[in-house]
Amino acid sequence: MILSPSLLSADFSRLAEELSALEAAGLTWVHLDVMDGAFVPNITFGPPVIAALRRVSGLFFDVHLMVEDPARYLEVFCEAGADLLVIHAEADRHPQRTLAAIRGMGRKAGLALNPGTDVNALRWLAADMDLLLVMGVNPGFSGQSFLPGTYEKIRSARRVLDESGGAGVPIQMDGGACPENAALLAEAGADILVSGSAFFGHKPYDQRLEAFLRPLAGRVARPALSAAAQWKARLPRA
Ligand code: DX5
Ligand code: ZN
Repeated sequence: MILSPSLLSADFSRLAEELSALEAAGLTWVHLDVMDGAFVPNITFGPPVIAALRRVSGLFFDVHLMVEDPARYLEVFCEAGADLLVIHAEADRHPQRTLAAIRGMGRKAGLALNPGTDVNALRWLAADMDLLLVMGVNPGFSGQSFLPGTYEKIRSARRVLDESGGAGVPIQMDGGACPENAALLAEAGADILVSGSAFFGHKPYDQRLEAFLRPLAGRVARPALSAAAQWKARLPRA
């Protein structure tokens, strides 16, 4: 299991320190939630903030674009230092083209599905994505209650990926993750957990990471997860 803490719940007046604390605690990924006030009813931060963080951090930048028509912004987010760009199927009329464009820029391409979106939306895109994000809440805010139907959705998504050429594609779950549901989520097929409110504010971070990982001890790592664990090392750094 990879834990990708969502910076949305961090102390925004001390972002550089928060990133250093993550690295010191042994984390390798950080999840950056970009919201445009149109696709979701909230506004967060954009490329200038990510570029500033890139200058002070070697973490794998997992950028979740909750924006309408994300294809307009791919270059600027790549230049800012994103390693993985995740677009929403619901926000893009031509997701295959956008996923291919992200890969063309040398970055990892992810597709996200809202809770109400059928997993069949990914069937014809499985070969074009490096990661699938299954939302456990309706996107927009940290600290919302986890939707229990997500377990079955992850299982279905795993089946559809395996059937359609995406056997090596890891599944990320975002929204409502906590140490108490980590084992059930891993059993359902989640390879990467995003956590905002259940992670930040629980210092020290090495112990909080351990609280997420402890319930998973002894579980067999899936090949898709091993692939994702290697990404950081493979991506070029400015
Ligand atoms: C929600 C964001 C999430 C959020 C997770 O729209 O995409 O990444 O920050 O926060 P928690 O873990 O508190 O649900
Ligand atoms: Zn997110």
